[in-house]
Amino acid sequence: MKKLNIALIGFGTAGRGFYEAWQQLGTTRFNIHGVAVKDGEKERYGLHLNATTDVLGLINDPTVDVVVEATGNVKEAKLWYDATIKNRQVFVTANKQLVSQLNAFGNQNLLYEASCGGALPIVRLLETCFPHGVSSIRGVLNGSTNYILTRIFVDGFTFNDGLLIAKEAGFVEADERLDLDGGDPATKLRILCRHAFGLRLHADDVSVFPLIGFNDVDVKFIRRNNLVVRYIATATVEDGKITARVAPELVAAEHPFAKVLNEENAVSITDRGGESYFFKAKGAGKQPTGTALFNDLEAWSQGFRYKKRKLAKAKSTPEIEEVIVRTGNDFRSELTDAETIESWVESGQRFYRLRCCLNELARIPNVRSGEASVFVVGKDLTQKTFKPEYHRLEC
Ligand code: HSE
Repeated sequence: MKKLNIALIGFGTAGRGFYEAWQQLGTTRFNIHGVAVKDGEKERYGLHLNATTDVLGLINDPTVDVVVEATGNVKEAKLWYDATIKNRQVFVTANKQLVSQLNAFGNQNLLYEASCGGALPIVRLLETCFPHGVSSIRGVLNGSTNYILTRIFVDGFTFNDGLLIAKEAGFVEADERLDLDGGDPATKLRILCRHAFGLRLHADDVSVFPLIGFNDVDVKFIRRNNLVVRYIATATVEDGKITARVAPELVAAEHPFAKVLNEENAVSITDRGGESYFFKAKGAGKQPTGTALFNDLEAWSQGFRYKKRKLAKAKSTPEIEEVIVRTGNDFRSELTDAETIESWVESGQRFYRLRCCLNELARIPNVRSGEASVFVVGKDLTQKTFKPEYHRLEC
């Protein structure tokens, strides 16, 4: 049988990971015909052919069957994607920003498992394993922030030291704000909502609470209560309406999400029959991302395609939850309907335990900027008595 001819675009973390997975698993069925990179001068240890900088020249080579895109570049990747449609080639990508912008359903030559959850085959699972549909999906979808949180809560590191080693390990986006502001997991959640619910979500449909302002005052409070934080993306559909958020959540040490460590990602799914499932794998880095790209190539060559379907526009509904907010100043007048359960003060910082509308809270300027930290109190903790040993404020 003729080997499929691959054009690999990008030879950074994901591109090299794909190349190594191909060397290990795929040389008999796939041929890497060419590799395109941005900087043609850079030494690329282990690459068996000369890389070109002429990406479109490589894609438009009539012998290329499949383009594997591993750059993270959005504008140019859209041009490359358009060229592959014209050429009737297959496009396999790790580029979540690009995928979130594509109205992709209907293109049977597009796969993007590597864009969500690293090695976790979550898109394929959603496509194939839940014939009765899904009612909720919750996940740790960002490897870098989970790595940082693990360093803080397991090793006692500061946030900044955790960030530094996550960067050295190659988990963090070129623009680190995408990870720390929650843009990266929110984008992944929006992609998964297409496959879980058949819904198209706009960026504004997801309430995002950044992790950027998370600091030592927060860590002390959380540790004193024997809890850990996980950065969790959640989408739930009820009566045709969706709530979607990305937020730091307080979880008990025995909670399955607390056991998601380092760069691991995990997803918990509840199907429409009420059955729950939990999946976990490495979510960032060379091997997980490269493996996911390679698995897409294999899956496509074995006949796997995403289902063709029309996506409905999501109808968002306000979400009321219990939260703890740490802030330098009182902001509660900016919320229309918040119930203060308790509050404390320590070294000029106030901690408010509230029940409020997350959509409203996410829009408050000092929450968006990270000056205030927000922690969603997991459902299993809402009865918990918090004991920060701080001075109690009158509510
Ligand atoms: N920066 C991303 C993460 C890379 O940390 O999860 C993988 O998508």
